[in-house]
Amino acid sequence: MNDRLERIENALLNSIPADDESIRTVLESMKYSLTAGGKRVRPVLVLEFAKLCGGTEEAAMPFACAIEMIHTYSLIHDDLPCMDNDDMRRGKPTNHKVFGEAAAVLGGDALLTLAFETALSEKAAALNGYEKCALAGRLLASCAGAEGMIGGQIIDIESEGKNAAIERLRLMDRLKTGALIKAACLLGCISAGADDVQKKAAEEYAACIGLAFQIVDDMLDVTSDEATLGKPIGSDAENEKSTYVSLLGLEKCRSLVAELTDEAKKSLSVFSGDTSFLSDFAETLRDRRK
Ligand code: IPE
Ligand code: IPE
Ligand code: MG
Ligand code: MG
Ligand code: MG
Repeated sequence: MNDRLERIENALLNSIPADDESIRTVLESMKYSLTAGGKRVRPVLVLEFAKLCGGTEEAAMPFACAIEMIHTYSLIHDDLPCMDNDDMRRGKPTNHKVFGEAAAVLGGDALLTLAFETALSEKAAALNGYEKCALAGRLLASCAGAEGMIGGQIIDIESEGKNAAIERLRLMDRLKTGALIKAACLLGCISAGADDVQKKAAEEYAACIGLAFQIVDDMLDVTSDEATLGKPIGSDAENEKSTYVSLLGLEKCRSLVAELTDEAKKSLSVFSGDTSFLSDFAETLRDRRK
């Protein structure tokens, strides 16, 4: 896991355009957030599903970087004053606190577009072929857009100050967090040329850990501390967010996350390869403290 994380960090760092004085501010903004740490959950999922389905880490790496770039952009924008208005992220001041709002918006935009440049790069095509790159590009676009992460974010914003119904909350979480996690699992499948049965199982696994992941995120906003989490706690209450915690309470959330984790593990049964990493990973995410 540590070796793999190191290779992800290197690949991310190498994918940022070379320094250029005339556009330095936006390059620095991108680099600041992309290399600020973070758990790298999504790229790890890309690489592991690729491996499980018979692909290689090298070929899947451009897709792994692409999904982490989109995730990082979503966090930069999520922290803006017009969104969640948070001051800390990944243990450092948020992007807009360091670079100002304009450079934070633009740094985020540039990471979103760099994701497509990376997934459709010559290197990605040489390793995967253009057809798989096109499939990956289409998936990245749909998971990040209005019918994916952005759709979840607008529901999140419009649910502030209201007691959203549980069905709406599930939709919100499926989109704002689940969409990128599902895409991560499927990107690994695409790179490896997985069959439909494998893709369906990957989607089921992703749906379970994706929802569990956001519920745990909501729980940590109440139960953790800023030093451990690397971002402010109590942000959801301050913004009067509708969350699983605000609606169901911590105890119910805990049992729901446990159920979803068990379900995720069960969905791995169709794979003939070694699924112990993904099985353990679901538990690690359930039990995480940050
Ligand atoms: C935080 O994601 C935002 C959510 C979608 C819940 P992560 O918890 O994966 O954040 P990093 O990447 O580790 O900073
Ligand atoms: C954000 O959810 C999900 C995104 C698409 C960025 P949150 O607003 O709960 O994420 P954190 O808690 O700020 O990381
Ligand atoms: Mg938010
Ligand atoms: Mg937030
Ligand atoms: Mg949160």
